[in-house]
Amino acid sequence: CGIVGYLGKANAATVLINGLKRLEYRGYDSAGLALLDNDEILVSKSAGKVASLNERAHTNWSPEVFKRSGTGIAHTRWATHGPPTEINAHPHLDQSGDIALVHNGIIENYRALRTRLESRGHHFYSETDTEVLCHLIGDCDKGDLFQAVCDALHQVEGTFGIAVISSREPGRIITARRGSPIVIGIGDGEVILASDASAILAHTQRVIYLDDNDIATLTLDGVDIRDLNNVPVTREIAELGLDAAAAEKGGFEHFMLKEIHEQPEALANAIRGRLDLHLGSSVLAGMSTSQRELAELVRVVMVGCGTSLHAAMVGEYAFEDIADINAEVQQAAEFRYRNPIMGSRDFVVAISQSGETADTLAAVKEAHQKGAFVMSLVNVVGSTIARETGRGVYLHAGPEISVASTKAFTCQVSVLLMMALKLGRGRRFSREEGLKLAHDIGSIPLLVERVIAKEHIIAKIAEDYVDNEHAFFIGRGPMYPVALEGALKLKEISYIHAEGYHAAELKHGPIALLQPGTPVIAVACEGPAKDKTLGNVEECRARGARILGIVTEGDTDAEEVMDDYISIPRTHPLVATVPAVVALQIFSYHVARLRGCEIDQPRNLAKSVTVE
Ligand code: G6P
Repeated sequence: CGIVGYLGKANAATVLINGLKRLEYRGYDSAGLALLDNDEILVSKSAGKVASLNERAHTNWSPEVFKRSGTGIAHTRWATHGPPTEINAHPHLDQSGDIALVHNGIIENYRALRTRLESRGHHFYSETDTEVLCHLIGDCDKGDLFQAVCDALHQVEGTFGIAVISSREPGRIITARRGSPIVIGIGDGEVILASDASAILAHTQRVIYLDDNDIATLTLDGVDIRDLNNVPVTREIAELGLDAAAAEKGGFEHFMLKEIHEQPEALANAIRGRLDLHLGSSVLAGMSTSQRELAELVRVVMVGCGTSLHAAMVGEYAFEDIADINAEVQQAAEFRYRNPIMGSRDFVVAISQSGETADTLAAVKEAHQKGAFVMSLVNVVGSTIARETGRGVYLHAGPEISVASTKAFTCQVSVLLMMALKLGRGRRFSREEGLKLAHDIGSIPLLVERVIAKEHIIAKIAEDYVDNEHAFFIGRGPMYPVALEGALKLKEISYIHAEGYHAAELKHGPIALLQPGTPVIAVACEGPAKDKTLGNVEECRARGARILGIVTEGDTDAEEVMDDYISIPRTHPLVATVPAVVALQIFSYHVARLRGCEIDQPRNLAKSVTVE
């Protein structure tokens, strides 16, 4: 979910709606905003996207209201408690109707709080935990909103990023966080808070990131930050250093297409200055510990969710192959609850585009508890996971807005390859091997550019796959996670049921689903597993499947067994995962586009999942 709050001279409703549009990728099933107008709280809400909220607000409120109100809070939701209806949309009001609240996160003990409040005469309209929190704040309010929020937050269990306004205390917004990010932008005669900087960019580059359990009062005189015991704390003002244009579509039909096309540049940014072409190694400041300490590590454990989990799975092959170290991947949501066995010689890498995914964050905390050497691989600078790990490598991929992740994945894989290289050079990987791999990693932006140059060919192939309701993606070795990622891309944006399978596993069940014409997308690029994959392709062909191959340029053996193929440049088999996945991104994009899907905002999804 996304939060925005504004206090200043501009027309708050418009600023808030524009801010919500920037945050819509965090959730878009309902939205709402509350304004402070002549010491009264006005609320507009709507099911659906921010565009419907915009229409609703213009119907509900006169142009004068828009002009005169300079204070408000707003929210775009990804439903957790209760369906995405107008009633459940935020902001919520307290019993008196004087206090409005927007909230990200989950109040775990909301049922108990609700029962207690009901026994004290409170009435609730929605099914949300947020309305309970708002009533609780109202119940604690004895004339000092700040203190009321502190008192209420002392009673809640769970996570929150909140913004609160009260008609009894105009000219201020109270905001607080625990587990859900809040960034405060300090502008010229205005302050704006949001759950991430993209909603602030248009106003200022000067921001303060709240830490967990910080609570801040925003007024036009400045920002006062305290802990929940009312003790002042100091947080530095940081410079965003982000370009507002980076969050625009820039002439592309969708953010996803723009981000696919940005990959050569994003990858160049992720790789630049990080390869040591003399030692055949990599220079990753975030892994700055001695080679000796690195050499003592016995295992790499990567955690992540969704697309980041697939990047981790490519990393697993890279660490074992290059660094000669035990490597494993754990789904972040499992990690904490399975009570993992680990210690100080385990190297835990938390992989996350947003740096906010709740499960990945929880895994980081658990790994810290167990004394592991923890690092993050994150795109969003200053995000919670990056701050929590304190040590890590940023992707520098630039803002990724499309819900379906593209450039973050390829940058994650590229950085994981460099990490494996660094670790490998402290072990069995020779300088010669290192130089060769460093060279191949350095060529990734170019390889990807060459795949993007084939977009028109891939788009043409996509036309033949539009009318299917099922598809299988298969691969082996490092191309197995590529197949998983290809299937995820296709299903999330085109709604075609797509399954990623290990090529060898297909015959243990899913092959029963193959019928004449069922698409099988085989990632069969050159590498040790290629011939075996081609064998599995034959099994599918024998059952009438239609095969689309991702093959290496000039590999006629592979081309011959495919009905259609997309070829990618020849390179190291681990490096080839990057151009191979780019081919699948472009394929999925064009299938989804031809099916008329809402590519950047597929149904039911959110880019940043800040709940477990
Ligand atoms: C959501 C997004 C995915 C993403 C996953 C993990 O499900 O829709 O695209 O891969 O979260 O996000 P993270 O920011 O941790 O990489």
